[in-house]
Amino acid sequence: MSEKKLSSCRKHHLKSLILAIAKGLLEEEERKRKEERKRYMAESCPPLPLPRSMHELQELCREIHHKIDVIDEERYNLEIKVNKTNKEIDDLKIKVQDLTGRFKKPVLRKVRMSADAMLKALLGSKHTVNLELRAHLKQVKKDAKEEDKELWDIGDWRKNIEDKSGMDGRKKMFEAEA
Ligand SMILES: *[C@@H]1O[C@H](CO)[C@@H](O)[C@H](O)[C@H]1NC(C)=O
Repeated sequence: MSEKKLSSCRKHHLKSLILAIAKGLLEEEERKRKEERKRYMAESCPPLPLPRSMHELQELCREIHHKIDVIDEERYNLEIKVNKTNKEIDDLKIKVQDLTGRFKKPVLRKVRMSADAMLKALLGSKHTVNLELRAHLKQVKKDAKEEDKELWDIGDWRKNIEDKSGMDGRKKMFEAEA
């Protein structure tokens, strides 16, 4: 089994574990929610005492009326909280979208090209290395010797040219063409 296969196998295993744990947490949450609802209903809605007189009936009505007011206020406050949280969720979603958009990595591939093909791609199909360019390349070469060597390491294609032909090889190639 290759290393890559092992790691994807492991990834799969971890994913299953996480999903199993999440499922357990959700079930526990649902159980608690049901329990809390039962408790709340028992507390807030005790069995109605049957009124035995007009006076008791009026009292009961007043009581229920008052309860409705209290509950409605509670509902309104909760609705404000829910709306506020929903807005926060929307804002966060937009942020996530912005961030994933901004940090999307471009797919960089190593370019495998001969120096000749590279020059053709850069300069057009009928590339002719004119004297000015050659002079420039020679100048850069001279400078590079003195300056930081890393200067030549800035891109795959440049390294590629160097790897393939080396500075001297490239020089010979230009000279052969002239
Ligand atoms: C909450 O949002 C809903 C839908 O956007 C809206 O109809 C309702 O009036 C809002 N409630 C409060 C208390 O702001």
